[in-house]
Amino acid sequence: MQKKILIAPSLLSADFANIERDIKRVEDAGADWLHIDVMDGHFVPNITVGPVVVKAISTVAKVPLDVHLMIENPERYIESFARAGSDFITFHIEATRDPQAIIRLIKKQGKGAGVSIKPGTAASAIKPLLDGVDLVLVMGVEPGFGGQGFIASALPKIEELRKIYQGNISVDGGINDANAGSVIKAGANVLVAGNYLFTSRDIKEAMRRLRI
Ligand code: DX5
Ligand code: ZN
Repeated sequence: MQKKILIAPSLLSADFANIERDIKRVEDAGADWLHIDVMDGHFVPNITVGPVVVKAISTVAKVPLDVHLMIENPERYIESFARAGSDFITFHIEATRDPQAIIRLIKKQGKGAGVSIKPGTAASAIKPLLDGVDLVLVMGVEPGFGGQGFIASALPKIEELRKIYQGNISVDGGINDANAGSVIKAGANVLVAGNYLFTSRDIKEAMRRLRI
């Protein structure tokens, strides 16, 4: 059965000086989750937000918070991001030598656990983890910045994972109305989109165009 398509706007492309307004805007347009990109300046070249901002967002958000950790040593911060109100916490397989321990930590906090792969990482790298996670996140761009072009090599990875995994498969980076159909066809059911949604004049219509 085809899973319901969930849209997770990436707040990286929102106006952080007007974050409550932008959250309401995407929620009113039908956002299913809010995607929050956490970057540490080490795992990726950019720096964004930490638990303080996630906590602030959690006080105004109505939909689940999908927190994407692009950080080294993710195990150090799971508890803080859980307490800050995350619903899903996703870490990168490339950032740790003990992914099972991180999954256990996330589960212990009662949160959904996600694991992500960068464009250069094969789907096989996370196959041993699939039993224990609620979400896999396949990057469509090199993590670090919004507004980049989608790398099509993500598509066969999504297909490969969907054959053996029934949970949420999320695709993040470069998603727009021109490629949404192909990522859904490949088997993704969660679409993260930043630049495409936040630069649309009619976000509701832009989301409708992603779901088909
Ligand atoms: C990139 C982030 C993405 C990004 C997506 O490192 O993980 O979530 O914000 O933004 P767009 O849709 O603009 O590529
Ligand atoms: Zn992300």
